[in-house]
Amino acid sequence: MAALAKVGLIGLAVMGENLALNIERNGFPIAVYNRTEAKTKELMATRAKGKNFIPTFTLEAFVAALEPPRKIIILVKAGAPVDALLKQLQPLLSPGDIVIDGGNSLFTDTERREKEYAQADLNFMGMGVSGGEEGALWGPSLMPGGPIVAYQAMEPILTKIAAQVTDGPCVTYIGPGGAGHYVKMVHNGIEYGDMQLIAEAYDLLKNVVGLTPAEIHDVFKSWNQGEELQSFLIEITADIFTYIDPETHQPLVELILDKAGQKGTGKWTSQNALDLGIAIPTINAAIESRIISSFKDQRVAASSVLTGPSHFYTGDKQKFIDSVASALYCAKVCSYAQGMALLAAASSEYKYNLTLTELSRIWKGGCIIRANLLDKIQQAFKHNPLLPNLLVDPEFAQELTTKQEQWREVVATAAKVGVPCTAMSASLGYFDSYRSERLPLNLTQAQRDFFGAHTYERIDKPGSFHTEWNIR
Ligand code: 6PG
Repeated sequence: MAALAKVGLIGLAVMGENLALNIERNGFPIAVYNRTEAKTKELMATRAKGKNFIPTFTLEAFVAALEPPRKIIILVKAGAPVDALLKQLQPLLSPGDIVIDGGNSLFTDTERREKEYAQADLNFMGMGVSGGEEGALWGPSLMPGGPIVAYQAMEPILTKIAAQVTDGPCVTYIGPGGAGHYVKMVHNGIEYGDMQLIAEAYDLLKNVVGLTPAEIHDVFKSWNQGEELQSFLIEITADIFTYIDPETHQPLVELILDKAGQKGTGKWTSQNALDLGIAIPTINAAIESRIISSFKDQRVAASSVLTGPSHFYTGDKQKFIDSVASALYCAKVCSYAQGMALLAAASSEYKYNLTLTELSRIWKGGCIIRANLLDKIQQAFKHNPLLPNLLVDPEFAQELTTKQEQWREVVATAAKVGVPCTAMSASLGYFDSYRSERLPLNLTQAQRDFFGAHTYERIDKPGSFHTEWNIR
């Protein structure tokens, strides 16, 4: 009988194919299965040729090719396809087998699936996989959650295939139930925030100080060389501005339709933050900016009806570029502060027992939001694991206080010139709200009590009060 595979993978779209190649390259013989046979045959004839792959063409053969307890990674489209596959697989499995969903599934689906599989003595894990195609092949950041015993069985494989940074592989046991997919969801919310902030910086460079794509490339490149903004997303942004469309000989980025798509993970982050009562205005602004972008026809029509200001920036160009760098940095710190606050709240609400230092660590490599900043975030939570908000970490507090003048200058200039900076200003609003000892919401309470007798508390004495406001 042929040797059995250590691990199996179902779903050979680009992420699945690359992850399978990564697993095999790291010394684990792998069995693969795909719904359409042709895809498996093509992989075997090309990239998997001569490698330790076992191609299979029925789920029965796939399951039979695996060493017990079976370890099966599935990478199929989130939603109904995952349920359909799990249903087909379940009768073929034996107690103790492990199935890991590596797609971008909704964490509540993962919670449900884990319970269903547990009833049959099967282990189901939800694992966030970040890093796109390249990450899957050369080392992603992995966020596995579910039964700890299943993680322990998977650990030797996961620690090898993950991205490696100076303080270890970019994987850790995230927590029980849907914790892995929850953390991936928030990662994606932060990813949306980062991308929107970068897009706004580009808009400012282009439309306030009139930089060309080549000049914008230079700016992003220099930012990526600095300690504060160095990150994967800034690096690829710099590269994007150098790409010339072979047909038109114009920078390709300027030829791309300004309507951004989304697959749902960002939206889920906002929805869940509302459920948990956590403010994530920068991430919300990023999602709403994508939504507004999709109304292209309305925007085109409105552009000739709604005239903006006729103000032009007349200040120093380089000074403004430097201020945009500071604004981008401060706004990004606020965005991460929001994401971390959401994770902390979810940890207690769902009993995930998340370790924020570990999450920052595993995001330092492999994933889309990998950035120098994460090292500092890791240190902040290491110094004080009970930090209520990243903004009050002494180092971040000092930085934001010093840079705020430039940040305010950028947001004020954007408002004067009429360039939308929804995420950058949402971050500033978050910063100003969070540092306000007194907010005007006392008035909100008075209004609520006025029209609905909702009662209010007072600052000068304890208790709950109601006033007959309209009897003057
Ligand atoms: C990652 C990404 C990835 C995500 C895409 C698309 O971490 O590798 O988050 O998982 O699916 O970025 O997301 P949107 O289509 O929603 O922008």
